[in-house]
Amino acid sequence: LEAAGLAAFRSAEVTDAVEAARIEFLGLKQGRIKAAQERLKAVEPSDRKAYGQRFNAAKKALEAAWEAAKARVDRPSDAASGIDVTLPGSPRPRLGHRHPLTQTADELIDLFGRLGFGVARGPEVEDVFHNFEALNIPPAHPARDPADNFYLSDGALLRSQTSTIQIRVMERQPPPVRIVAIGRVYRPDEVDPTHSFMFHQIEGLMVDRGITMAHLKSTLRLFAEGYLGRDVKIRFRPSFFPFTEPSVEVDMLWHGGDRWVEMGGAGMVDPNVLRAVGYDPDEVTGFAFGLGVERLCMRKHGIDDIRQFTLNDVRFLSQF
Ligand code: PHE
Repeated sequence: LEAAGLAAFRSAEVTDAVEAARIEFLGLKQGRIKAAQERLKAVEPSDRKAYGQRFNAAKKALEAAWEAAKARVDRPSDAASGIDVTLPGSPRPRLGHRHPLTQTADELIDLFGRLGFGVARGPEVEDVFHNFEALNIPPAHPARDPADNFYLSDGALLRSQTSTIQIRVMERQPPPVRIVAIGRVYRPDEVDPTHSFMFHQIEGLMVDRGITMAHLKSTLRLFAEGYLGRDVKIRFRPSFFPFTEPSVEVDMLWHGGDRWVEMGGAGMVDPNVLRAVGYDPDEVTGFAFGLGVERLCMRKHGIDDIRQFTLNDVRFLSQF
């Protein structure tokens, strides 16, 4: 009996087989150990002690064999589970991180936040009023040319500049205003290393009593030093935008750089724009500026092709 039981437990390879052996040998009702125990009663008193010892030993051995068999089938062998515990540990899973442009946007928002600018966002599908009319861009203006915009219908287009957000903010609240608007803009440009049909702008707007060009320049200089380093210089060149007067192009020059790089446009908010949102140009004045987020990021990190941002090449992205 003991030998048969041990063999049964040893050869059991799955849980069901172990259980079947348990029922056959150790089952409390019909098990063979139980039957052997019953037979003890019929044994001659003189033999009973020897029989009892033999019985106890067999029962213990079978119970131990059952425990061992359970442990064996519960924990599959390394080979059966396909895990080779002798191999070196696998590399840690690689974690993703924020896209370089998102990192740049967060950094810009943080920098302007320290200068007291809140953040505003707005819709990417805009109407002609917010993208043009309120910004002093009349119907015949070349900036409204269908070849230079992504029109979706007669009155709707993908916004071509984040200046639309200035209008939405000023419509909602009375002066003073101090915000940066950040987001995607769309223009049907030929794609090349420095142009794309979609890019990001960060646009600042400050309106209050007595705001002047000096506030604009010091804000941009503080920002440029904060983002690109203390040794950056900025320069204004006269320019024209329908929504600012006077208007300037903003150039920056880095320590070690050999030429001024254009970073965006700026100017004093045109009185017509202030009127379009119900502000009184005799009471308040304001400045606005718009900078390209890609350009700032490329300049800071030495990226030479704007297309890298949308290729999703991990070799590029993982460097940031
Ligand atoms: N919106 C202008 C552009 O896209 C930039 C700009 C913003 C210029 C604010 C002046 C003031 O080119």
